[in-house]
Amino acid sequence: MKFNNLRTGEKILFGIFALMLVFAGISFVMMEIYRSRLNHPMYEITTQFDFTPEGKVGSELFRTKGCTDCHRAVRNGTNHGVVLDGIGSRRTLDYLISFLR
Ligand code: HEC
Repeated sequence: MKFNNLRTGEKILFGIFALMLVFAGISFVMMEIYRSRLNHPMYEITTQFDFTPEGKVGSELFRTKGCTDCHRAVRNGTNHGVVLDGIGSRRTLDYLISFLR
């Protein structure tokens, strides 16, 4: 392949682009090697899905009473409003009850 027909600016531009591709490739391979050597999940799992019977009722209400129109929790709903994952750890029960009232 001949590059003589390219202008200097084009050579620099494509050169930078090629370098970025090479860098992305190397980064990807390095990350995959690093990840394959970890013996724990790469990201801490902060959301728990093990519902009590009472929690299952709450989850059902959350999905059927229109809360998911604006909120998201446990992979249900939209990103429009406040994400409610972990809300029970950030707020007290009294706060939530009076807020919802
Ligand atoms: C029309 C959109 C909409 C719907 C429907 C909706 N919410 Fe909200 N919700 C919001 C918005 C916006 C806020 C943030 C308001 C604020 O902080 O003052 C909020 C805040 C909250 C908060 C407080 C979060 C905090 O940290 O203070 C809780 C809890 C909550 N919503 C629960 C629910 C539940 C349960 C339902 C279903 C019964 C519901 N929401 C339905 C829009 C909505």
